[in-house]
Amino acid sequence: MRLVLLGPPGSGKGTQSVRLAGTLAIAHISTGDILRAAVREGTELGRKAESFIRQGGLVPDEVIVGMVEERIARADCSRGFIFDGFPRTIPQAEMLESRLGAGPRAGNGGAIDRVLYMDLDEESCVRRLAGRWTCPADGRTYNQFSQPPKAAGKCDRCGGALVQREDDRVGTVKNRLKVYLEQTRPLIGFYEKAGRLNRVDASRTPDQVFAELLNAVRQGAKA
Ligand code: AP5
Ligand code: MG
Repeated sequence: MRLVLLGPPGSGKGTQSVRLAGTLAIAHISTGDILRAAVREGTELGRKAESFIRQGGLVPDEVIVGMVEERIARADCSRGFIFDGFPRTIPQAEMLESRLGAGPRAGNGGAIDRVLYMDLDEESCVRRLAGRWTCPADGRTYNQFSQPPKAAGKCDRCGGALVQREDDRVGTVKNRLKVYLEQTRPLIGFYEKAGRLNRVDASRTPDQVFAELLNAVRQGAKA
């Protein structure tokens, strides 16, 4: 099964995709997590990506495409995967079609089984990002308002110290939202045309959103 979680920054893609990947036993692929790890480790990929991430812009498509090709070739993707934060532009979606959609489905959105669009208003996105804390060791995400960790500042699972993302500063968040509207939102039409898109109300509680997402995936699998 191949899924895409699409939505603005802060809509809950990371929170929900980790849970969906666990329940469906498929790989979780967050391009943002891969890039941030590369920046931390100082690799060539990290050096290419760092300034774009810091400013809230998109890393160039050619960098992302090579990185994703390498990731989906790994053994843990053999049962399927859920993309979190990819594709982000029409060229990225087209690349996915040409790499995975070979055959009669190629080029029409058919490379992906379901695209789950997490619909959330801008004000809520900004509020959620202001309260977000993440575990750098296992990527688990918390929120000081809605999902606080059991012990302040510590990951529930591994006990590691939680950090705030550098690109969650208010000015950078505004730019990320602008980039989302201009470059990523057009993907809604791309996948709607392919009949693969489900819109999910991301303003509800995490459990409610999860139930709706799972339902959309299961209905899609029957269709
Ligand atoms: P990326 O890491 O993908 O960030 P993003 O898309 O901006 O999204 P976020 O991770 O900020 O939010 P989210 O939707 O995952 O929300 P979360 O679950 O954390 O990308 C970062 C950067 O990397 C980009 O700006 C770009 O530079 C680069 N990049 C990445 N992929 C790229 C690509 N494909 N092409 C080019 N460049 C790329 O939730 C947010 C908060 O809300 C958390 O605190 C959470 O606990 C809380 N929360 C979640 N759900 C709920 C709920 N239902 N109710 C209340 N609170 C909730
Ligand atoms: Mg995320």
